[in-house]
Amino acid sequence: MADLDLEQLIKEIEQSTASSISELEQYRVRYLGKKGKVKELFSRLKDADAEARETLGAKFNDIKYRAEAKFESLKSKLSSKKSGEENEMDLSRPGVPLPLGTRHPISIVRNQMIKIFEHIGFTVSEGPEIETDWNNFTALNIPEDHPARDMQDTFFLQTDPDILLRTHTSPQQIRVMESTAPPIRIICPGRVYRNETVSARAHCIFHQIEGLYIDESVSFTDLKQTLYYFAKEMFGEDTKTRFRPSYFPFTEPSAEMDISCLICKGEGCPVCKHSGWVEILGCGMVDPSVLENCNIDSSKYMGYAFGLGIERPAMLKYQIDDIRLFFENDIRFLEQFQSAL
Ligand code: PHE
Repeated sequence: MADLDLEQLIKEIEQSTASSISELEQYRVRYLGKKGKVKELFSRLKDADAEARETLGAKFNDIKYRAEAKFESLKSKLSSKKSGEENEMDLSRPGVPLPLGTRHPISIVRNQMIKIFEHIGFTVSEGPEIETDWNNFTALNIPEDHPARDMQDTFFLQTDPDILLRTHTSPQQIRVMESTAPPIRIICPGRVYRNETVSARAHCIFHQIEGLYIDESVSFTDLKQTLYYFAKEMFGEDTKTRFRPSYFPFTEPSAEMDISCLICKGEGCPVCKHSGWVEILGCGMVDPSVLENCNIDSSKYMGYAFGLGIERPAMLKYQIDDIRLFFENDIRFLEQFQSAL
């Protein structure tokens, strides 16, 4: 027993510190564990003679209590330190802002157009971008070899020339007329494709919104009033409009509508090619043979249709002079457009 320095052991225990859970655990193993110093003390009792055993036992017990009490105090110090750290969190600090994306300018203008037409009773109908020749051309009065097919350079599927990327959103009107009984009042927004050389003014991908109204008594006046209303809502009260006769195989009579140039207000500038007017849409009364192609009785029903691009109005609205910017998706370009729509 002579090698036992109990005073030294007590000192060691009293001076122990633990600044982390793992240090606390090290302390526990060292003094209170199965092979710890306190156990070791008690294992020596059997070697002591009966007389000394009693006083030694009392001493060892004292050391054991001190070691246990120290463990408890180290433990409680550690947990109060931890919760102290938590209390340092400042709940009044502002949060870390999450950068929010913005809508694409084409989506902003499309949503604005949709809202205007929904306001006067049109509902949105969307269809596939991959279409059949029938829906895109033949049903719309554009039979094979019709020169009008050349007006819309088409991407066909190499393995099946009956399948193509739609060149306009009109095929969606065919789908609706074939499956719905009049009255029909729809707008069809969507992406369309034409095999055109990409430049600042033209792209092989662009967007359209097409409108269709079929009922028992629909006149060209209804069409004009609808489009006047649209132009004023979309481009402002003092926007002037004008109709020019035109030709589309699926409408008769057909027209195109111009609005006064938003950039120069009709004075003449490079955007309107110094005419003061910008063409924004094609329209007309639905040709009876198109109705018949969709099994709608053309002696009872009639209607109007119109189709407008989204890119050109968006370019006018935001004064963008290159259509390619819409498709490059450069974040520095896209970040400039904010809208609630
Ligand atoms: N579909 C025509 C186009 O893409 C536009 C249009 C639609 C014209 C409806 C008249 C009526 O050029």
